[in-house]
Amino acid sequence: MKFFVDTADTKDIADLAATGLIDGVTTNPSLIAKSGRPFAEVIAEICGLTDGPVSAEVVAIDAEGMISEGRKLAKIAENVAVKLPLTWDGLKACRTLADEGIPVNVTLCFSANQALLAAKAGAAFISPFIGRLDDIHIDGMELIQEIRQIYDNYMFETEILAASIRSPNHVKLSALAGADVMTAPPAVIRSLVSHPLTDKGLEIFLADAKKAGIKV
Ligand code: E4P
Repeated sequence: MKFFVDTADTKDIADLAATGLIDGVTTNPSLIAKSGRPFAEVIAEICGLTDGPVSAEVVAIDAEGMISEGRKLAKIAENVAVKLPLTWDGLKACRTLADEGIPVNVTLCFSANQALLAAKAGAAFISPFIGRLDDIHIDGMELIQEIRQIYDNYMFETEILAASIRSPNHVKLSALAGADVMTAPPAVIRSLVSHPLTDKGLEIFLADAKKAGIKV
């Protein structure tokens, strides 16, 4: 399973990239706004911190506008993936950009039929938003399972990018459901390593080593 980090905070990205566990980055207009930095500048910097895909989202809502913004974003760096919303215009733009060899991440996916359309439009990634479905009492994980089954039935190559991940449990369930990628905020990724028994066990081992004077 690939791990993308969902942030536009370059310090966090650099810190996590140093672990060798990060395969790409996703951003959205809200995350870019939070960074307080110019869009193209921050995307260019992020692209230099990872060799993996960096999702940069358009803000146009018509197909032509999305295509022109997508081409512009793709010129920032070779590893930009253009993020487009799951609308008819987004799907039209997806087909055009995909035919030009530009990888597209179709975002704001909340149903299996939407995911089917994105795959047919040539998306490199489909981003089902788990947390936002859970927020309205719909099981986000069920959506990942449905999309996995549909994509496997027809051998679509579009990668399922589990997004809007809010907890370690979301990561585990996405992996069990066969998501190809998950994107999560830095804090969620960092929390994956924690287990109280690991901390406790290490404390005991170190105390015993100290008592016995063990040196390596
Ligand atoms: C993914 O690409 C989105 O940027 C992100 O996962 C949205 O997460 P949220 O619903 O927690 O804002």
